[in-house]
Amino acid sequence: MLRIAVLVSGGGTNLQAILDAIDSGKITNAEVVGVLSNNPNAYALERARKHGIEAVCVSPRDYPTRAAFEEAYLAQTESWTPGLVVLAGCMVVIPEKMVNAFKNRMINIHPALIPSFCGKGYYGLHVHEKVLERGVRVTGATVHFVDIGTDTGPIILQKAVYVQEGDTPEILQRRVMEQAEWKIMPEAINLIANGRVSVEDGKVKISNYTFGEI
Ligand code: GAR
Repeated sequence: MLRIAVLVSGGGTNLQAILDAIDSGKITNAEVVGVLSNNPNAYALERARKHGIEAVCVSPRDYPTRAAFEEAYLAQTESWTPGLVVLAGCMVVIPEKMVNAFKNRMINIHPALIPSFCGKGYYGLHVHEKVLERGVRVTGATVHFVDIGTDTGPIILQKAVYVQEGDTPEILQRRVMEQAEWKIMPEAINLIANGRVSVEDGKVKISNYTFGEI
């Protein structure tokens, strides 16, 4: 059974999609053993507790230095002995030491088709604002392993979503979540939990894969 720690900062709809997929049996061989937030007001913490999952906040405001916060953040994550760390709307820049501690065992969901609309400053609603500013017709979401760069790690799954006339950043964000994020995140976790994902030469290989299995 794969032990998963989920790192969040906000609403936690991706966390919810993961919990629902485990409950319905779409994700097998995996359990969420802890949820960590840097933000005490994150609704994701509530979602975890409603599910009987340990939910902890480690906020930078409670530590004298960034280094002290990062140490506590890593220690809390490691306390759950996770086989996989999932960044689900996590707005913390993961420190290098933590990235190295979970090499090829930490994944992130990004709300665009990497390498478009990613990197520094591209997070949350800002991504969708930039997509609309540029006028692209297709956007989407990406699940990737986390490396020391920003949104540069090996790509596991991607799904495209159309931009529509009259979209606002909020409307587009919702469509990207519904049509892409809430599908490819559980799917990637299921693939990893069942030993079907490997990384070779910086690229992901998935054994016997047909898109949209779950
Ligand atoms: C999601 O759209 C996720 O892709 C994005 O934040 C949102 C969190 O929503 N993540 C990033 O931008 C990371 N760079 P949620 O809290 O409801 O899952």
